[in-house]
Order: sequence, then structure tokens, then C-alpha cells
Amino acid sequence: AAATRYEAESATISQGVVESNHTGFSGTGFVNYDNVVGSSVQWSVTAAAAGAATIVLRYANGTTTNRPMDIAVNGTVVAAATAFGSTTNWDTWQSKTITATLNAGTNTIRATATTANGGPNVDWLSV
Ligand code: GCU
Ligand code: CA
Repeated sequence: AAATRYEAESATISQGVVESNHTGFSGTGFVNYDNVVGSSVQWSVTAAAAGAATIVLRYANGTTTNRPMDIAVNGTVVAAATAFGSTTNWDTWQSKTITATLNAGTNTIRATATTANGGPNVDWLSV
């Protein structure tokens, strides 16, 4: 089935703010994670069927330093310290793809910064 896009600015944000002061995002903005360990965005997503799903996260990292995040599905980390490397500047967005097992119906997917630099800026997640 076609992927559904879930905007970060519509998700549940902990220690981050919605901003629109860089170009190239979709929707009305992106999430600027606070630059602390543990800042996070959590999406509620729907899967038609149980099983492996392709999850794409669109992000920008205008620094030269990796901004790793733990990706958790339904409360369990399934991709620890996933790398979100430099995208050269804050107006340039890249996609990071992971595969994870989802339940049929509603699932939560949370992306949590694991370093004091916080996460990258995040535009959306798709499933
Ligand atoms: C800059 C940039 C922000 C980004 C921040 C960071 O302030 O404008 O969008 O989130 O750097 O380093 O995290
Ligand atoms: Ca930030």
C-alpha cells in the first residue's frame, strides 16, 4: 500500500518546538528538538496488517555532527542510536529508512535523541 505521511508538527512533542524558519519542509513546519538527551517526537500511526513495515523519517542536520536517535515502536527500542548525519545545512532534508514490525491497527513510533546535541530537525515520518 502507499505510504502515509505523518507530519512531526502534528505529533506529540517532548522537549522540542515547532518552527518554520528553514526552507524545504512539508506541512506547516518541522520539529526543532531541544538540544538535550531525551528530547523526542512520538507519532501514532496505523498499519493495515501486522508485520514488517518500512518507516521513513525526514530530517535536516545542519551541523557536521551525527544526531543519533533511538527509534521505539510501541515502547520498545527497535533501532538504537540510529544515525542522523549531516545534511550540510538546515534547509536540506534527507530520508532515513528503517524496517520494524508493527501491529495491525494503531502503533506508536517515538524518535528520542540520545546525545546532548538533541535530535536533528524532523519534518515527517511515513509508514
Ligand atoms: C540552529 C537551527 C535550528 C536547530 C539548531 C540545533 O539553531 O536554526 O533549527 O534545531 O541549530 O543545532 O539543534
Ligand atoms: Ca535543535
